Amino acid sequence: MLRNILITGGAGFIGSRLVSALSQGEPESNIWVLDNLHPQVHGLNPELPHFASTVNFIKGDIADKLIVKSAVELAQPELIYHLAAETGTGQSYDEVSRYCEVNVSGTANLIEAVRTISGAVTKKIVLAASRAVYGEGGYRDSMGRVYTGLPRQAQMMSLRNFEVPLAAGAKFPAEAIASNAQLSVAPSSVYASTKLMQEYLLNQTGEGAGWSSTILRFQNVYGPGQSLRNPYTGVLSIFSRQLLEGKKLEIYEDGRIARDFVYVDDVVDALVKAGLQTLPHGTTIDIGTGQAISILDVARLLMKYLGVSDDHYSVTGAFRVGDIRHACADIDAARDLLGWAPRVSAETGLSLLANWARTEFDSGSGL
Ligand SMILES: NC(=O)c1ccc[n+]([C@@H]2O[C@H](COP(=O)([O-])OP(=O)(O)OC[C@H]3O[C@@H](n4cnc5c(N)ncnc54)[C@H](O)[C@@H]3O)[C@@H](O)[C@H]2O)c1
Repeated sequence: MLRNILITGGAGFIGSRLVSALSQGEPESNIWVLDNLHPQVHGLNPELPHFASTVNFIKGDIADKLIVKSAVELAQPELIYHLAAETGTGQSYDEVSRYCEVNVSGTANLIEAVRTISGAVTKKIVLAASRAVYGEGGYRDSMGRVYTGLPRQAQMMSLRNFEVPLAAGAKFPAEAIASNAQLSVAPSSVYASTKLMQEYLLNQTGEGAGWSSTILRFQNVYGPGQSLRNPYTGVLSIFSRQLLEGKKLEIYEDGRIARDFVYVDDVVDALVKAGLQTLPHGTTIDIGTGQAISILDVARLLMKYLGVSDDHYSVTGAFRVGDIRHACADIDAARDLLGWAPRVSAETGLSLLANWARTEFDSGSGL
């Protein structure tokens, strides 16, 4: 029997590859996409991704309660992947109400729509959540005690002190530890707070309902298809565009901000597996490679794969409030609960990204 699946944000970077994977995979699915083709991501004259002819596309805003209700009524989804979101950490400070409307109220609209369709149709909602909810994340001090990193203050960073402060009593040096769901959440941006609210809303309203939530907290997802025109998210796409335009990269802080970059197809694989598994309501799983790399090192690798000389950058000491210093996933839960592990190496992923970005840039599309 066909599974009905609704994917919000299904025209985006991760969503469009998820749609392709589900259209080709087993069991056979009847797929509905709800997406407003946000101009920041898709440009002013957006083109739909090349979906299979069996995919049903609804152009609409997740913040519009009536549209969400009619999309859910039409799709009668057994499974929902909720990806539609405003995604820029820096932008979220300037557009607080929009981030709340789309990310928080949009999720509320989805939940209310699921509750009003007749019968217990929906069995599972999988959320594209974010490691941003951890803020500065966990640190182990020299005595082996674990602390949650405190927000970094602009005053300290302007003195080029980029280290993450810990509560009184912690003994330095301290080392960053990989994040997992046992760690305290401490969102340090408006975007992160709205992503955490999405988790809370789904977990609270799903309790005792006919459906369960599965929360996948992604690290930095990268790969072909991540908008080259969106200046607010996707650091490797932003770097690719700047390098192809012949610009020098401005590397913030001392170049040692670290991220866990996970290739988009690996993330899609985790989403597909999460949709198939029966898991307790509210199960929260971190998705990354489990390896952190500094922004400077990843920028140099990208220069290599783009064929750009290795001196196209300067480490400026500039910083952004809310940027976190170190992020890396503990992927044990993903291995245990989903039977998932990342398969694409940084070398392969970055060369695929570089080839795609060059083709897009040379053809002028996607800019
Ligand atoms: N890419 C990452 O590194 C990353 C990391 C952590 C979490 N996530 C989460 O994964 C999800 C997908 O991210 P992505 O990287 O594919 O982003 P994306 O911007 O490429 O895709 C988001 C899609 O949602 C659509 N959208 C935006 N606002 C909408 C609205 N109001 N109504 C309907 N559709 C709307 C956009 O048109 C776009 O197609 C997001 O929820 C994001 O928070 C992404």
